[in-house]
Amino acid sequence: MTSKDQIDLFNLAEVVTPAPSADFNPDLIPTSAKVPIPPGTYSSMDEMKVHCNQCQRCDLGATRTHAVVSRGSIDAPIMIVGEGPGQNEDETGIPFVGKAGQLLDKILDAVQLTEADVFICNIVKCRPPGNRTPTTDEMEACRPYLLEQIRMVDPKIILLTGASSVKGLTGDKRGITKIRGEWLEWDNRLCMPIFHPAYLLRNPSKEKGSPKWLMWQDIQKVRAKLDEIRAQG
Ligand code: URA
Repeated sequence: MTSKDQIDLFNLAEVVTPAPSADFNPDLIPTSAKVPIPPGTYSSMDEMKVHCNQCQRCDLGATRTHAVVSRGSIDAPIMIVGEGPGQNEDETGIPFVGKAGQLLDKILDAVQLTEADVFICNIVKCRPPGNRTPTTDEMEACRPYLLEQIRMVDPKIILLTGASSVKGLTGDKRGITKIRGEWLEWDNRLCMPIFHPAYLLRNPSKEKGSPKWLMWQDIQKVRAKLDEIRAQG
């Protein structure tokens, strides 16, 4: 191996687009939102990633650099669902790698949650231009991918970061300050709305009652629930 090859091994910015599996049917690549994606379509996240990178179910397909599918563990007990990729995520194909993602990692680390404990994804897999909020149509077009991710990971707990994530998955349109920190049930699954880390970056106070302080209460609740679930076996 040359020294250049060795250096390339550490090139984390390089994005590897997975090769399709042998039984992969390219005719099923969704070219519009009219192409159905029935439950059970994908047997791995890599297989789904191939489709997402060619997907034209909504207009976001025209402007993305990379579809942003997931990071973390497929066996994770906790799934974290963001709103949509930003610029850093669009460039790398990996969710939550920018400033908000770094804060999210710190929050998880504070309650000893590692990449083995979490699976991180977004409501929409492609970056909305200028980081605008994804439209209802975009969220709807992308929803089958999210449902497939939930089916494959089968998480015990789903954390929904911010109002768009809550609306995108559950349809609940209430403001995040109203519903954060409370468990809710969706499709027989335990979900908790929490603040989006980008909101915490804009509100740095740690005073009692501040968004950061509330997030600390919420994430400790999540940690306690996971411990409780694990103790039940
Ligand atoms: N914000 C999100 O909601 N998702 C990301 O992946 C990055 C920033």
